[in-house]
Order: sequence, then C-alpha cells, then structure tokens
Amino acid sequence: MTTMNKILVINGSYRDDGITDQAVAVAVAALKGSGAETEIINLREYPIEFCLNCRECSLQPGESPGKCVLDDGMQALIEKIEAAQGFILAAPTNFGSVTAIFKRFMERLIAYAYWPWDKPYPQFRKAKAPRKKAMLISSSAAPALMGRWLFGSSKQLKMAAQTIGAEPVGTLFTGMISTEKHQQLPQKTVAKARAMAIKLLTA
Ligand SMILES: Cc1cc2nc3c(=O)[nH]c(=O)nc-3n(C[C@H](O)[C@H](O)[C@H](O)COP(=O)(O)O)c2cc1C
Repeated sequence: MTTMNKILVINGSYRDDGITDQAVAVAVAALKGSGAETEIINLREYPIEFCLNCRECSLQPGESPGKCVLDDGMQALIEKIEAAQGFILAAPTNFGSVTAIFKRFMERLIAYAYWPWDKPYPQFRKAKAPRKKAMLISSSAAPALMGRWLFGSSKQLKMAAQTIGAEPVGTLFTGMISTEKHQQLPQKTVAKARAMAIKLLTA
C-alpha cells in the first residue's frame, strides 16, 4: 500500500460554497485528518488564458510537459501538478459539459502531449509514467445516474486526470441539486466523499 501525502485540488466551480465547494471541503477535511498535505486551486480566481492551439508546447519531446508561449499562471500550476502525488478534479455540469473555466484549464494540458506537426494525433507524455491517483467530482440538476452517463463532464474529468498521469479512484457525482439556492450536500454524499478521499490516499 502506497501512501500519498500531497494532494492538489483543482476546482472548476464558479460559486463560493456551492455543491462542488462543499464536496471538495468534505474530501479535503478527510485528507487532512489522515495527515495529507492539500492545496486548493479555485480556477475562478486563478489566472489562466485560453489555449492558442499553436502547439509550441507539444512540439518539445520528452516526458515533461512542454513550455507554453503564454505567460500566466499555468506554468506554476503545472509545477504544482508535477509535485503532487494525487488530485481532486472538480467541475459542475453546465450544458452537458464541465464548466468553461475547467475546459479552459484542460485545453492548456496539451502541454502534456507530444504532438509534432507530422503526427496525426498526440502521444500523451504520461501514458507510461507511474500512475498517480485522482478523485473526480461533478454534479448536475439531473439525477446522478443520468448525469453521470448522459453528460460529458465525468468523461472530461477522467480525460484531464489521465492527461496529467492519474488514474481515477472514483467519481463523486451528485444529482438533483438545483432546487434551492443554497443547497446542502446530502448526508450520504458527505459519507461517500470522505470514503473516496481516503481511497485516494491508500489506493
Ligand atoms: C449555465 C448552466 C448550465 C447548466 N447545465 C446543466 C445541464 O446541462 N445539465 C444538468 O443536469 N444541470 C445543469 N446545470 C445545473 C448545474 O449542474 C448545477 O447548478 C451545478 O452542478 C451546481 O454546482 P455548484 O453548486 O458548484 O455551482 C446548469 C447550470 C447552469 C447555471
């Protein structure tokens, strides 16, 4: 059993203390209670520009992420990603997808692909690297079972995790959470969030 101590949370919710923030807080409390070091990056207050699709970062060979031409917070975030041993990736479902701020972050992860102009598709740099672990968090107005399978959010979070070299330990998907402005995370979700966070440390 390996123990992961440094967990980076990347949160793509727009709202303070919404369902995503509450799920993240429960998971982080469980992680801290188990002695893990955690850091939360709320993308809503973090400086990331849109990808230019210039592919400069993906022309550079090797297992390390390539260097982007943009000078914003992404380089520092990649350094945090590289230093972390596990992740929580979180984004609510908006129009069937992760939020635009999570997608904007995700597109910048093309630095994790080697993709010279003469290759028809990218080769993901971390595909063969030792796997880190990730817990994924999403939510929707639709029931969880429907949201999980019908919408792209779960798949997109999984794709982001795999791109940074992490295997998901599970997806905490909370449904039917849009009938009150300040909806509380259901108790059974709280229990699931704690259990999944511990799994992240011990898987
Ligand atoms: C712009 C927008 C688009 C949304 N699209 C969907 C959707 O396609 N399917 C769905 O079930 N819920 C949808 N919802 C509900 C959100 O998933 C829900 O408000 C969100 O999970 C709450 O997360 P938060 O509390 O972290 O903000 C949408 C909400 C907004 C504001």
